[in-house]
Amino acid sequence: MIRRGWYWRRFLHCLPLLYSPPYPLPHWNVDTQTVVILDFGSQYTQLIARRIREQNVFSIVLPCTAPLAEIQACHPIGIILSGGPSSVYDADAPDADPRLLTLDAPILGICYGLHFIVHHLGGKVRTAPKREYGHAEVSIEDAATPLFAGLPPTLQVWMSHGDEALELPPGFRRTAVTSNALAAIANDQRRIWAVQFHPEVHHTPLGPQLIKNFIFNICGARGDWTPAHFIESTVASIRQKVGSGHVICGLSGGVDSSVAAVLVHKAIGAQLTCIFVNNGVLRKNEFVSVQKNLRDKLGLHIVAVDASQRFLAQLAGVTDPETKRKRIGAEFIAVFDDEATRIARQTGGVDWLVQGTLYPDVIESSSVKGPSQTIKSHHNVGGLPQRMKLKLIEPLRDLFKDEVRRIGRDMGMPEDILGRQPFPGPGLAVRILGEVTPERVALLQEADDIVVTEIKAAGLYSKIWQSFAVLLPVMSVGVMGDQRTYAYTAAVRAVHSEDGMTADWTPLPHEVLKRISSRIVNEVRGINRVVYDITSKPPGTIEWE
Ligand code: XMP
Repeated sequence: MIRRGWYWRRFLHCLPLLYSPPYPLPHWNVDTQTVVILDFGSQYTQLIARRIREQNVFSIVLPCTAPLAEIQACHPIGIILSGGPSSVYDADAPDADPRLLTLDAPILGICYGLHFIVHHLGGKVRTAPKREYGHAEVSIEDAATPLFAGLPPTLQVWMSHGDEALELPPGFRRTAVTSNALAAIANDQRRIWAVQFHPEVHHTPLGPQLIKNFIFNICGARGDWTPAHFIESTVASIRQKVGSGHVICGLSGGVDSSVAAVLVHKAIGAQLTCIFVNNGVLRKNEFVSVQKNLRDKLGLHIVAVDASQRFLAQLAGVTDPETKRKRIGAEFIAVFDDEATRIARQTGGVDWLVQGTLYPDVIESSSVKGPSQTIKSHHNVGGLPQRMKLKLIEPLRDLFKDEVRRIGRDMGMPEDILGRQPFPGPGLAVRILGEVTPERVALLQEADDIVVTEIKAAGLYSKIWQSFAVLLPVMSVGVMGDQRTYAYTAAVRAVHSEDGMTADWTPLPHEVLKRISSRIVNEVRGINRVVYDITSKPPGTIEWE
């Protein structure tokens, strides 16, 4: 049933480690007004996309190397050229097709984007005598330019550049300056604007107004890309795509797979069957509570498979972290495949698989920087579509995590699903160092439940990216009452993070730590010592394995 073509290529975007496509293939409705952001490698590119989407205008990031036809195929109402770490004169400087500067869409260049415009339209860029990095004050010279509408004569901005425009191309004029450099240029006739500073970062407090000016005053955005609009158009497109086919979805109980499943269920109801696998390394009561939430509260049709024994048998005697991950991944595919085959027999065939792929995964896999080195092999259902010849539905492929939560809220999903902290596919297995045994899983489930319960009770759960316990196979001597104990150690881990790529350890309040420690040692027989992990990422990782 597999079709060669765009579905197949889109599926491959989820596998950055296996396949790095030249650019992400966008998934959007033709009526959706789109701002295209070309990524020249800036660490802030995703922020530009977010700032635009916060205004209910859809935006998509393409690598700067995207072919012109690909940019045109998005029917952009505006194009933004991002910043980037290079100089336009570097031998390996990221480059784009300069013909994009002649497309019928207004353009905003940011930092390197400004240099790109100047360089390609006949001006001159040079290495600045003094690198400008950090806060700066900009004086607006041409208040009438629509990009600066409603802004005061001086702006606090964030600068980060080593090059500067020395000579402007014909038809361009300077519209703003700092004390030692040019800050903005414009060419009204060609509808090209550019700024040397970064309006997308929060160190430029009036940056959102400037971005609003570009998308609304200059590009004519309607601002109608709302959750309701997204839900309506996605539901319609899923319905049309699936027709009378049958769809399966692997549920983890996390935000992404749950929202994806609810969206697809809204579109096709009983044609969707969700599979939820107990891999034996879920958290305390999780197998039951996820079913309650998604089946009882949201009406999804769920096949819940308790495969704990199969997984634990695979993990017996294994201590190497990568081997654990690989065994769990392979077993998951085997269990899922068995279930899907059974469902296919009952329903007369399964054609589609739902995946909760998010936009950052799509951007990461196609970034101009290229995929980063593999630190851990992430568990996913990547092998399934090939093996079962399934086509993919990825309804969240264009969304950031907070947008997924907004969509979920709009569909009336409960906060305890939407607010859930991330949990890795290989579950507690990567939080039990050494061999995973049923006894150790039970110990960690209890300790972890205490950590999470106390953090929730302190009102901190939603403010922390992840908080959990880790079981260390380190035995130490303790004393309880008059008894000597010799038992395991639990580590408490709590981190703040934006996206899981980097993280800072969280200084939990003393009182919370005290309660966690005392409860674990008193209530979990088999753990007599609690330590606190104060490692950030990098150099640590969030999970211990
Ligand atoms: P690390 O440990 O690499 O984790 O700093 C970064 C983020 O990814 C989560 N994580 C996973 N998520 N499958 C997942 O779906 C996995 O195999 C996996 N391993 C780690 C981790 O919880 C953190 O949020």
